[in-house]
Amino acid sequence: MSEPFVEVVDEATLQERVAQLGSEISADYEGTPPIVVGVLKGSLPFMTDLVKHLPFGVELDFLSLTRFGHHGRVSLAMDTSLSMDGRDVLIVEDIVDTGLTLTTLRRLMEVKGARDVRTVALLDKATRRIVDVPVEYRGFEVGDEFLLGYGLDWEGRFRNVRSLWGVMDLKTLADEPQLFAQKVFGEGALIRGVAAAR
Ligand code: IMP
Repeated sequence: MSEPFVEVVDEATLQERVAQLGSEISADYEGTPPIVVGVLKGSLPFMTDLVKHLPFGVELDFLSLTRFGHHGRVSLAMDTSLSMDGRDVLIVEDIVDTGLTLTTLRRLMEVKGARDVRTVALLDKATRRIVDVPVEYRGFEVGDEFLLGYGLDWEGRFRNVRSLWGVMDLKTLADEPQLFAQKVFGEGALIRGVAAAR
């Protein structure tokens, strides 16, 4: 049987690309530090690593969204706290898929009076786009498989995995999530409610 879980980007490659994105962004924003807005919860590991490569005093802010159904409406669960009025805003996203989330976010920042809105997305599932939305900085273009780790979750879990994995068999993940936990955290790894099989 083929492997249900495949590492698609290892930790060193992720870190190298994040550093490159940091350099690109730093060059473009020279002199006008943006407000960096992270979209919770998926962007957290990426944002934490990225901002370490920005050599200016950025301000950080966060928001979180709730989505109803796969292609459904997106609503704001937690709003930003800083004033965006007249500011340059850099949205940090884990992954852009249909583009619906990002479209809503960009509009929101514009409504808040941002002077300029750009996006850095670690991953881009460009072939799945429903709405055309600009992504100024992107880490990797990926296929349409379900991805997990480095911020991306399955049922709220595994955001803390240090590299990026492709799930080739979603049924195996749903039936035996401990197999993935063992693969990434080692023998004996525990996940909520399930003890790893020995
Ligand atoms: P969009 O609105 O369809 O562009 O969806 C973007 C959001 O979908 C991301 O912020 C993720 O939360 C989620 N998402 C899309 N693809 C994946 C994936 O492969 N794994 C985990 N979450 C994903």
